Amino acid sequence: MKTTIVILAAGEGTRMNSSIPKSLHRVAGKPMLMHIVEASSNIMPEQLIVVHSTKAANSIKKELADENIVFVEQTKPLGTGHALKKAGAAINEKNKVLVLLGDVPLVKRETINQLECSLADNELTVLTVEVERPEGYGRIVRDSNGNVKAIVEESECTEEEKKIKEINTGIMAFAPNKLEGWLKELNADNKKGEYYLTDVIKMAYDEGRTVGTISAESEMEVFGVNDKKGLAKAEQTVRENKAAELLEAGVTLADPSRIDIRGTLTCGRDVYIDIDTIFVGDVVIGDNVAVGPYSLIANTQIGNNSKILSHCNIEQSTIGSDCSVGPFARVRPGTDLMSEAKIGNFVETKNSKIEQSSKVNHLSYIGDATIGSNTNIGAGTITCNYDGANKHKTIIGDNVFVGSGVELVAPVNIENGATIGAGSTISKSAEGGKLTLERGNRKTLDGWKRPTKKDK
Ligand code: UD1
Ligand code: CA
Repeated sequence: MKTTIVILAAGEGTRMNSSIPKSLHRVAGKPMLMHIVEASSNIMPEQLIVVHSTKAANSIKKELADENIVFVEQTKPLGTGHALKKAGAAINEKNKVLVLLGDVPLVKRETINQLECSLADNELTVLTVEVERPEGYGRIVRDSNGNVKAIVEESECTEEEKKIKEINTGIMAFAPNKLEGWLKELNADNKKGEYYLTDVIKMAYDEGRTVGTISAESEMEVFGVNDKKGLAKAEQTVRENKAAELLEAGVTLADPSRIDIRGTLTCGRDVYIDIDTIFVGDVVIGDNVAVGPYSLIANTQIGNNSKILSHCNIEQSTIGSDCSVGPFARVRPGTDLMSEAKIGNFVETKNSKIEQSSKVNHLSYIGDATIGSNTNIGAGTITCNYDGANKHKTIIGDNVFVGSGVELVAPVNIENGATIGAGSTISKSAEGGKLTLERGNRKTLDGWKRPTKKDK
């Protein structure tokens, strides 16, 4: 039997106080909706349907363009029941139907699996959890035999019902051919005037259907984000979970509450990570690497025994083994450092390969360049890679010594073993094994006087 997953994401999200659709707010760098789509894809549903509002149509379709999704528009936010009704026409009735919410982002794939499997025993399964503070959630009301007989929304609860600590996570599963009939019967006869999906529970109970529940692993797994405070809480949870995983895997974190992982961070053995570094996308770190504090490292690989000193910004680059980067280095996309290379303070690199044991230690810009091995680039050296219209390459060989304050006007080639005198502006290729100087001749003007201030 196949499965349809429907994600409801058409609510107004008023409490977010934002023009961004609620389900596109990011947790750990990814839209909440994307977290749910990824967790859903594990069971390989035959259909994955997202219900969105008219306003959010474009942005949601754009964010999820790479996924195989059927989009359904709910023009007015008349409630979760109404949203699912809208999806009705697209749902293959012969399938099991799993309903997920676009604002419950941390649900685990294992839980979705379990929910699907539960339909072997139940005609309707509700994912529930016990919480200390149930305010804002629908309450699970059970009969004297412990069977679920209704879900009552907070606004409809009696004082007694308000005390119930078992809450509806909003996530449910329906056996095939059941949903349509119940959805038809829904009305908006309640304080909010909305079609509550939760009303189908009572219908099912009254019909004598088997309504079961399964429990979420923790309260935070099924936490519903309704405002920015909630969003920050979801973010904190992901942060704590990821830090715990790293500690478990043997990584040393100076302070587990001060690391942000917005993607996947994979570490080798004996990695040390100091405070307040943000890892974005896919970052892979080898053995014995030390990452200093206050850096941003995105989509980058770092080889064994390398050191990232403080305050670096590293994106889409490859750092080899035994390298040293920073402090205060900006390593832009396409930088490829081979082993034992060194990038020092206030150095910017981009689309450049720096081979073994070469050093760019201070205040340089290296763009669209290749630097051979054992080469030293002096302080303040700049590759002039852009002529105002096009980019050009700088090629620097092995064992080159470039003095301080040199401008290398690309396209230009510095051959193996060349030495470039400090302060040169190199506009033509320099021969190997020789000293090249390209600077104005010295002038000393006798009798020249500094300007003086004019009397007012
Ligand atoms: C809902 C549940 C509540 C549960 C809680 C869990 C109902 C009636 N209530 O309440 O029992 O405890 O989730 O977090 O189901 N949506 C639409 N169209 C609409 C309205 C909502 O697509 O017309 C979507 C929203 O985008 C959101 C989800 O459904 O992703 C839940 O809507 P929300 O208004 O946040 O419901 P809650 O009040 O949190
Ligand atoms: Ca909600």
